[in-house]
Amino acid sequence: MLTHEENTLLTQVGAGTPMGELLREYWAPVLRSEALEADGAPQRVRLLGENFIAFRASDGRVGFFDEGCPHRCTSLALARNEDNALTCIFHGWKIDVSGKVVEVPSEPPERRAEFAAKVRVRHYPVREAGGVIWAYVGRREQPPKFYNFEFNELPTSHSFPMRAVIHCNWFQGLEAVLDSAHLGILHASWLRGNTTPGASTLATANTGPVFEVEPRPYGFREGALRDLFDGTCYARIREVVMPYYSFIPSAVTRPNFMICAIPIDDEWTAQWYFHYNPAAPLSAAQRAELMEGSSGDPNNFCSDMGSIDQLWHQDRKLMREGNWTGITRCIPFEDFVVEESMGPIVDRSREYLGSSDVIIIRSRRMLLQAVREHAAGKLPFGVDRELDYSQVRALAIRYDQQLNWRQLDPLRPPSSLPTN
Ligand code: FES
Ligand SMILES: [Fe+2]
Repeated sequence: MLTHEENTLLTQVGAGTPMGELLREYWAPVLRSEALEADGAPQRVRLLGENFIAFRASDGRVGFFDEGCPHRCTSLALARNEDNALTCIFHGWKIDVSGKVVEVPSEPPERRAEFAAKVRVRHYPVREAGGVIWAYVGRREQPPKFYNFEFNELPTSHSFPMRAVIHCNWFQGLEAVLDSAHLGILHASWLRGNTTPGASTLATANTGPVFEVEPRPYGFREGALRDLFDGTCYARIREVVMPYYSFIPSAVTRPNFMICAIPIDDEWTAQWYFHYNPAAPLSAAQRAELMEGSSGDPNNFCSDMGSIDQLWHQDRKLMREGNWTGITRCIPFEDFVVEESMGPIVDRSREYLGSSDVIIIRSRRMLLQAVREHAAGKLPFGVDRELDYSQVRALAIRYDQQLNWRQLDPLRPPSSLPTN
């Protein structure tokens, strides 16, 4: 349970709010690379309650500006994209991909150059990695070092990023991802129906895992430990990287993945699923499997999920026949539906938390502390020092109970005992 003041601190992300300012310190994924075509249509991006525009120039570079034209705020989504620049259709101001105004045809010819040199365009650093465009919209001259996450260093053939736009606050998105206690319950029907030799099927064998946590320089590592009552344990070990990344163990035959909740504004969230295989490219069949049951659009794979008005097409007949949730299109929809069902911004003063909510409580404490310290002038996590993210990986493993899960190295794990 939180106070109203604490809930507001965690959920408000607009410019000038304490959390909004903290989150602006970090790089954020904003678009799939494939959403931008050289000289193609610029794409609108809403992030942290502000509107931006992203476009790919003729030479492949990506520009990221405020959406409004610096002249009189016409949307640059309408602009012409050619010659490594955007040209506003209203009065023809032309802004090159580096954010410099190069033509102002609406001014008298003799003063155009001088005038253009004075106009400041709000443009932002971008990076492209792992098939995703990342932007830094913070206030510092120098953005923090870019994330060297494993998937950011791989060729794009090895990864498949997908994004879902959901109607709730980012912290609901984050908390659903952090909450491993729901795995064997909310997703029980999916896990039971999973015939692949995936370790996560063991999550239903014991629905009351013990959670242990180990601090990491970038957040924490969590072991959800399930005693299988045969001398072995099943551990799902996750890595949580502040402020919003969660590396989640997947079934043995599936690619690794990371989920993060990026605030679009106070009431909307981009939930990203980064799938990747460090060892090999993802085949077309694997990509298709990852999209199965979704809208089919990796830029918003839940666009046709429905809303509370029709209870997200929950199927009561299937529930009577044994399906737990009646939400049957794909696993992430079960998460999104419960997140959205709490309302756009859940009132955390009305909750009743139990012992399985320990990670939720811990994460809230960490973020509340971070946001307060940041508001008081302290540099946040990962900005105050360079961190190495290259070893961050989740692990699901069945192991001999004599071992300690903290000693299991996700990059070099002992071989897992048979999982089914
Ligand atoms: S509003 Fe864009 S050029 Fe005038
Ligand atoms: Fe889930």
